[in-house]
Amino acid sequence: MDINGKYFKKFVDRNQKYYVEQSERAKDKQHAKGKLTARERIDLLFDENSFEEIDAFVIPASIDSKPAKEYGDGVIIGHGRISGRVVYVYSQDFSVMGGSLGAVHAEKIVKVQDLALRTGAPIIGIIDSGGARIQEGIASLAGYAKIFYRNVRSSGIIPQISVIMGPAAGGAVYSPALTDFVFMTNKTSYMFVTGPNVVKEVLNEEVTFDELGGALVHSKKSGVSQMMYDDEENTILGVRKLLSFLPSNNLENPPFIETQDSPDRIEDKLRDIVPDDPNKPYDVKDIIKLLIDNGRFFEVAENYAQNLVVGFARLNNKAIGILANQPKVLAGTLDIDSSLKGSRFVRFCDAFNIPLLVLEDVPGFLPGVDQEHSGIIKHGAKLIYAFCEATVPKITVILRKSYGGAYIVMNSKNIGGDFNFAWPSAEIAVMGPEAAVAVLYRKELESAKDPVIFKKEYAAKYRDEIANPYIADEKGFIDEVIDPAVTRKKLITAFEALENKHLQMPERKHGNIPL
Ligand code: HXC
Repeated sequence: MDINGKYFKKFVDRNQKYYVEQSERAKDKQHAKGKLTARERIDLLFDENSFEEIDAFVIPASIDSKPAKEYGDGVIIGHGRISGRVVYVYSQDFSVMGGSLGAVHAEKIVKVQDLALRTGAPIIGIIDSGGARIQEGIASLAGYAKIFYRNVRSSGIIPQISVIMGPAAGGAVYSPALTDFVFMTNKTSYMFVTGPNVVKEVLNEEVTFDELGGALVHSKKSGVSQMMYDDEENTILGVRKLLSFLPSNNLENPPFIETQDSPDRIEDKLRDIVPDDPNKPYDVKDIIKLLIDNGRFFEVAENYAQNLVVGFARLNNKAIGILANQPKVLAGTLDIDSSLKGSRFVRFCDAFNIPLLVLEDVPGFLPGVDQEHSGIIKHGAKLIYAFCEATVPKITVILRKSYGGAYIVMNSKNIGGDFNFAWPSAEIAVMGPEAAVAVLYRKELESAKDPVIFKKEYAAKYRDEIANPYIADEKGFIDEVIDPAVTRKKLITAFEALENKHLQMPERKHGNIPL
């Protein structure tokens, strides 16, 4: 057949209209807003020339006159490869009716959601949308409902990642919130259920788009977004990096990637990071970086609840998830936000067969009326729940403080820790020395000549005699007190010993995590 012949005319015309004219129009509109087009984002996301589009030429349900003004109905869908593995995508095109979601647009998204779930491949949604398409009314709302339903069905089976690269208004916010990770680009993306105009109308409050739902707000305050980058290119690169730690589905193991780092590396510097003064802070990320392969840590939710650091890394080429108390922020105490951050991370890793490493230095739960009244009891319980139900290999290293309820929560042996190590600097006890002295020596304190000196002396004695790792070690609550310098080697050997761990939970419909 001749490509210039009559059979090809419509084929060529449609391609010209969609891939050239419409793409050019999209470029003009999006670039003027400092954003890439839906297609440019896809090209950056996938390995070169691997993207295959489907349903390119569908037209909106709201347009009955043909030929269509625009093809595709404001969303590009298909599949491609990321580091060689199949991934499904949908990418909303704001240049077509503001990327709003009508019936056909929704059906396209549903199609890739179904394909991704059926084939056990991750799905990425790139969102740039004004929400439910007003002209299509209830059909748009039903479209969102179908998408949410599939988000929930796919949860814990395939990784679902949302990338916000423009508005995510109204119905557009809830699918991302149901997925595993939400990426946002600073300054050009925002998420809100009701926009600044509605806020002004209902509450008479003036607020900008950025103040209401910008990337900074959602990555620092609300915790809706876990990853924020300054531009779209780096946001997409971040998605590719995250995927390198994840299996394609819950039946696979995370990808094995040769890092060339030695499993026998001894790190003397680890002996000096925890200060001699137990009240002096340090940066736990310095410890993480020395332990993991090549110091490459992919931190998750870096700006939110910074008193708990979580993220992915490789240990002897294999992916692990790390949770570490951060003594630099709020002395590493556990509060509501860090409990939420930690429990969600533990559950994600458990769902996708990613072993867990806990680095512990936690003086306790953050006290206060605000925390108690806001529900630290039920939120802290989430972290206990998450560790108790996680069946992946789980190891804890107690670096310094490990007191009270916080000792229990951070993957202690009796809530299912497989191996529990402690450094010689560990302080393990029911409560911190000062608080313990106040209870145990209340009367003596009252009659002491100098209560401050008395407290100091007895606190030092308590730390020495009671709050040390050797009692826990001798009683078997700790498997071994280890030299910090050999921690990497110890962890690699321990995770290898746990490689074939298989734990079956009792059969039930589902548990009832304290939400
Ligand atoms: C139909 C829409 C649309 C929508 C935008 N457009 N949103 N069309 N339905 N929801 C169209 C505009 O009419 C315009 O068309 C084009 O997209 C670009 O929009 P602009 O307003 O010019 O762009 P911008 O100035 O960048 O503002 C973006 C925006 C604004 C902030 C997102 O468009 C906006 O406020 N849209 C409505 C947001 C909203 O309230 N959504 C909630 C819907 S209700 P032309 O032809 O001029 O190019 C909902 C409920 C579901 O989603 C609940 C489920 C849980």
